[in-house]
Amino acid sequence: MEIKAIGCEPLQLKRMHIENGHTLKVYQETGGYVSLKKALGMSPDQIIQEVKDSALRGRGGAGFPTGMKWSFVPKDSPKPKYVVCNADESEPGSFKDRYLLERDPHALIEGMIIAGFALGASTGYIYFRGEYRYLIDIVDRALAEAREAGILGENILGSGFSMNIHTHTGAGAYICGEETALLSSLEGYRGHPRMKPPFPAVEGLYASPTVVNNVETFTSVPQIIEMGGVTWRDLGTEKSGGTKLWSISGHVKRPGVYELPMGYSDMEKFIMEDCGGMLRDGKSLKAVIPGGSSVYIMRADQILGKKVTLDYEGLVEAGSMLGTGGMMVMDETVDIVETTKNLTEFYKHESCGWCTPCREGTDWLVKIFDRIAAGGGKPSDAQLLLDICDNIEGKSFCPLGDAAAWPIQSAVKRFPEDFKRRIMANGNGSH
Ligand SMILES: Cc1cc2nc3c(=O)[nH]c(=O)nc-3n(C[C@H](O)[C@H](O)[C@H](O)COP(=O)(O)O)c2cc1C
Ligand code: SF4
Repeated sequence: MEIKAIGCEPLQLKRMHIENGHTLKVYQETGGYVSLKKALGMSPDQIIQEVKDSALRGRGGAGFPTGMKWSFVPKDSPKPKYVVCNADESEPGSFKDRYLLERDPHALIEGMIIAGFALGASTGYIYFRGEYRYLIDIVDRALAEAREAGILGENILGSGFSMNIHTHTGAGAYICGEETALLSSLEGYRGHPRMKPPFPAVEGLYASPTVVNNVETFTSVPQIIEMGGVTWRDLGTEKSGGTKLWSISGHVKRPGVYELPMGYSDMEKFIMEDCGGMLRDGKSLKAVIPGGSSVYIMRADQILGKKVTLDYEGLVEAGSMLGTGGMMVMDETVDIVETTKNLTEFYKHESCGWCTPCREGTDWLVKIFDRIAAGGGKPSDAQLLLDICDNIEGKSFCPLGDAAAWPIQSAVKRFPEDFKRRIMANGNGSH
């Protein structure tokens, strides 16, 4: 398992290999909390402007511009404001946030305090997925250290600004990573998504203005304040600023967490050279899901020789999405029908059941995949899968429905030979 930066200085990964990098002492020895001091001397508007200038886009999957999100928080609201960190990291293929939480928790705390100061929030929550309970102790210890040092709590570093941050754990439901379901869960309700608008920035936790950001989004903030928004942006591209963590798994020799500048060129080099190429010598690349499971699956010929840039725009142009940067690599031995079946079972299991297209649709999709796997697939099944996806995509209450449809739509269209082979191999050529 590799953890390293390529093509840039490690920023997110700066403390990954430093002993006790998770402690306050080492954090401060390596430049930690300098940005907080700087930020406390700036005006909230200046901080938001720096974040806007940085072209930081949310690292939780949707890629929404962070500075813009922060500017939606109404300044004149009489209600308390909240800063919430989404540490749910449930997207299949994504495992970057856990390393930040484990090895650099103070970077998250610093980013959240800066956000709290910029937004006028005196309370923050870190929402962990249930399976990350083991990380809560580490983060709680870091929070306690920060409190003892006067970095968190009353009158932070003598600035007059006060804020506290609390940890909270979910019960392991994927839907609780969706920001409105997360807020419902944090309030103690069942983790069902809520209608948007109103967006959380206006009406979020306890119906108060709330900013929800991913772990990696918050850990970018101290870097932005330290070097200035424009300088940080220029590490990447104009529209996709800074550096980005990629979790890469599957059939590569060196899977792991890599930090790359946004706009890194190219995807083929990253997989074939930086990550060591195909795990099994002699096997060729077949497919890649580049951004966590909720994006379009790519064929090798959409990548090889195509100089795909690794940023939001480059991956859309190449026929997929950046998502969370959870890249799953598959060699020629993989049966895409099995891959898609496996993902569909996940979405069916994780569908919260609130709306009909997703609840029923994912169940039907699994039934069809089961039928194909059991040898009863029909030639019309590939089209039937697409028809059901059409009835889920854009017609579900929250984006989990789209996320369930996209891998299947792309798999059926881009790997028709796999579906044909599985259905014909069943000896079932009839309708
Ligand atoms: C089904 C679903 C699961 C999600 N899971 C996560 C997650 O585990 N972590 C995360 O940061 N964002 C997740 N998101 C995205 C959040 O809804 C939200 O966009 C994000 O936390 C905002 O932070 P960002 O702007 O910093 O990315 C998920 C979205 C959906 C629809
Ligand atoms: S799309 Fe799925 S997860 Fe989202 S509200 Fe509907 S049933 Fe729940």
